[in-house]
Amino acid sequence: MSNISIIGTGNMARTIGALAVKGGNTVEVIGRDAAKSAALAETLGGGTTVGSFGAAPAGDIVILAVLFESAVPVIRKFGDGLAGKIIVDITNPFNATGTGLAVPHDTSIAQQMAQAAPASAHVVKAFNTLFRHVLAHGAPVDVFMAGDDAQAKAGVAAFIESLGLRPRDTGDLSMAHWVEGAGVLTMGLARYGVGNFDFSLGVNTLG
Ligand SMILES: NC(=O)c1ccc[n+]([C@@H]2O[C@H](COP(=O)([O-])OP(=O)(O)OC[C@H]3O[C@@H](n4cnc5c(N)ncnc54)[C@H](OP(=O)(O)O)[C@@H]3O)[C@@H](O)[C@H]2O)c1
Repeated sequence: MSNISIIGTGNMARTIGALAVKGGNTVEVIGRDAAKSAALAETLGGGTTVGSFGAAPAGDIVILAVLFESAVPVIRKFGDGLAGKIIVDITNPFNATGTGLAVPHDTSIAQQMAQAAPASAHVVKAFNTLFRHVLAHGAPVDVFMAGDDAQAKAGVAAFIESLGLRPRDTGDLSMAHWVEGAGVLTMGLARYGVGNFDFSLGVNTLG
């Protein structure tokens, strides 16, 4: 069981929060709108608590479920409250048409978040390649991850497994750029090769 804080009260906060409660994790929700936080906590149930926006989250794992443009400002807002935390970046920094990334080729939102976060925090990229309704469906899909700290990744992997999903480590945080690119790949497949959004990227192994 993990102690999770989710910053944001939108679609992904609701979806990951519901899976986290079902998986037996302790969940805190932290939105900038206290009424939305309270409503989401009530919807999630399972003893979900509400945290104060900008104050130190209660969870050891902090999932940032905001739009990518807000990710670094939100990290700065929480500041030292994130010291020692595992920060999970689920954002997709898409360009306006969803055909490319809105970050330079030599970085990622996850790396920018790591630069803005306290030195003792560890950023792990995860979940961005999964459409929320696919996550909510509950099938044991693959969750690509990237991060520099092995212990932080082990913690996120244990959390992912508690949701009934498969963690797939892609390497250090520099790989977050390509995991973000995999988000663009899902958009292309949805438009062309698959033709709908009812699928996920995954790993097929031999034997
Ligand atoms: N939806 C998907 O299928 C999916 C899949 C994979 C990854 N993602 C990624 O997950 C993230 C969240 O997506 P979503 O679909 O959950 O979006 P959403 O439903 O629009 O929710 C966004 C949340 O971010 C909060 N927010 C926005 N700007 C903020 C700021 N400056 N400070 C504090 N909170 C702020 C919003 O708060 P208010 O309600 O107060 O505005 C809201 O709670 C995005 O980065 C997206 O790329 C989404």
